[in-house]
Amino acid sequence: MSAIEEWASRITVEQLDTDPYPIYARMRREAPVCFVPAVGLWFVTRWADVDFAASHTDRIDSAVSPSPLNRVMGGPSILVLDGEPQKKLRAMLDPSLRPRVVEATSPDLVAPIVEGLLDALADRGEAELMSEYFEPISVLSLGSMLGLAEIDGDTLRRWFHGLAQGAVNFEDDPARWEIADATGEEIDRTLAPILERLWEVPDASTISTMLQHAEGSFDERVATILPTLKVILLGGMQEPGHAAGTTVAGLLESGQAGAVALDPAGLARDAIEEGLRWVAPIGTQTRRVRVETELGGVPLPVGANLGALVSSANRDEEVWGPTADAYDLARPSRNHGAFGFGPHFCSGHHFSRVQMRIAVQRLFERLPSLRSDPDRPPVFNGWEFRAPQHLHVHWDA
Ligand code: HEM
Repeated sequence: MSAIEEWASRITVEQLDTDPYPIYARMRREAPVCFVPAVGLWFVTRWADVDFAASHTDRIDSAVSPSPLNRVMGGPSILVLDGEPQKKLRAMLDPSLRPRVVEATSPDLVAPIVEGLLDALADRGEAELMSEYFEPISVLSLGSMLGLAEIDGDTLRRWFHGLAQGAVNFEDDPARWEIADATGEEIDRTLAPILERLWEVPDASTISTMLQHAEGSFDERVATILPTLKVILLGGMQEPGHAAGTTVAGLLESGQAGAVALDPAGLARDAIEEGLRWVAPIGTQTRRVRVETELGGVPLPVGANLGALVSSANRDEEVWGPTADAYDLARPSRNHGAFGFGPHFCSGHHFSRVQMRIAVQRLFERLPSLRSDPDRPPVFNGWEFRAPQHLHVHWDA
């Protein structure tokens, strides 16, 4: 065993959760494609290799096996399918998520949720923004767009936290499965009558649009879309809130919040894009080698499971320069990898961007003196899903 293999064999999930970035930096320098036994994945760490791994489905596909995702989602979702089956699911999803549709409908849907939460907070002078602001905006906005407005925010937040326990369970921890399985069953029970109603009385919501564009009987349509719906109930619900929270944590901790407070409408967009680059809320595109392929100088055998790390690609010094680890509002803009590479590029990126822009812009417009709680700085956790665990702030009420 080489020295670097020996080092990689000692990497733990706890180390990755606490701070994966120094580990990824060493891999990019010394072993850009590196097997990590703790999670059973070959980590692909450089921008160009991550892009290649996620874009060449003829050599490297999405049918990872064993896949924690299939168990959590209750069957094959869009994330583990390629070619025609994936395209068909995209065709069911995309009509309600196109930029024109999103721009026309989402601001009116998101803005009242944001204002309502800010009205409730404004006089308090302090808050924990993840649970009291960003996560509620994320779940309530998407719930409404999906056709699930009747489900309360706490339930939707509990669902994504529960599903996430299974989606990251590469280490096969029974305690994580128990939570994820129970969440999946609860979702199935709760959605059954809603799906039936949206089938009988269609509307413009995403779920209704998917049911209409699917094929076969009602039961066949539900079986086709339900696993993909759970992908959205996890990633779609969780990530916009997490990315917006990460952005504000980056601004506050790096001393750049004042600039945004002076021009929220002008700078919110750049602030969010840099937040998405700095800490990608979803760390990997998980893939499987279909045809023996050399990547980063390493010959990968058929069947090898890869973690193509968009989070590491977003810190690749070759692309982002020597300050790649820093949150920098003035960083020259270019595409980052937080929404993924290749044909599985995130379906919800327009909607997420509208949501995050309104959330961050209105936060600084209404609370321009926003500052961190010096006694409780934000603590990030997670390698597959990474976000501040809390974001305690003060402002002049
Ligand atoms: C900041 C927020 C978000 C981030 C960072 C994000 C990130 C990603 C990434 C990295 C992928 C690729 C996964 C892979 O290839 O394995 C993805 C796929 C996907 N995302 Fe998002 N996502 C976000 C929000 C959303 C929202 C709001 C929705 C729902 C409308 C959504 C729906 C999806 C779907 C359905 C896919 C699968 C697409 C496919 O396989 O073709 N995402 N997302």
